[in-house]
Amino acid sequence: MKYNENVENVLAQVAEVAGYLWEKGWAERNGGNISYNITEYVDEAIRALPSLGDKIELPEPVPALCGSYFVVTGTGKRMRYVHRDIMRNASIIRISPDGGSYEIVAEEYIRPTSELPSHLLIHDYLMRSGRSERAVIHTHPIELVAMTHHEPFLQKDVLSKLLWSMIPETRAFCPKGVGIVPYALPGSVLLAQETIKQLGEYDVVLWEKHGALAIGPDLIEPFDMIDTLSKSAKIYESACSMGFVPKGMSDEQMDELKRVFNL
Ligand code: 13P
Ligand code: ZN
Repeated sequence: MKYNENVENVLAQVAEVAGYLWEKGWAERNGGNISYNITEYVDEAIRALPSLGDKIELPEPVPALCGSYFVVTGTGKRMRYVHRDIMRNASIIRISPDGGSYEIVAEEYIRPTSELPSHLLIHDYLMRSGRSERAVIHTHPIELVAMTHHEPFLQKDVLSKLLWSMIPETRAFCPKGVGIVPYALPGSVLLAQETIKQLGEYDVVLWEKHGALAIGPDLIEPFDMIDTLSKSAKIYESACSMGFVPKGMSDEQMDELKRVFNL
């Protein structure tokens, strides 16, 4: 089915970014997932879509999302195939009027990602707090995940400072740095709640020994933030493999960037 131009653009962007995640090597098998709040683009044709199955209860209600619509990648679906054929690997879901359940309305009965609790509770938080971000990406960037295996990096802002100091771009384009969520079961409400706590302060959150999650007004911004942080992590790793631990830019150099670029 052809949707309106705005929704088609969102679907094209989900497919585009899914391709990047695969190319980056961050999307082994079905690793990673994407959601996009399309409620503002929904028209009569989408509102009229029938439910493709029974209502599915949510583990936690999302009162700020009653009647909202999302494009969500499917559980077990591979990013390389999301890129190639989005509507066979993702679906459109509609949250119930009471925010307690959802139904799949397009196009095939594709169960949403197992990380739906995180995605929806984050979208609920974004709406409640009047924020403008509408897109959420979760992926498995190799070097960033490796860094979460090192206990000292898990202390507050240690990793932000280290990653900022590897290259000026990271300081400029990830000005808030990264939050850390201690290991929690994938797909759990606890993982969602701990992530939301970090999103008050950071746009990108690392899940210990698992992956990254980022939010943005669209999918390009959060993808680019994870990519930029990942570049810093790679520079750190390259230097270490050359036999030295990089000193990084000094505090003065980073303060200068902050001042000059108004970060
Ligand atoms: P899904 O296939 O259910 O989206 O799970 C992938 C994943 O990365 C879980 O954290
Ligand atoms: Zn994951």
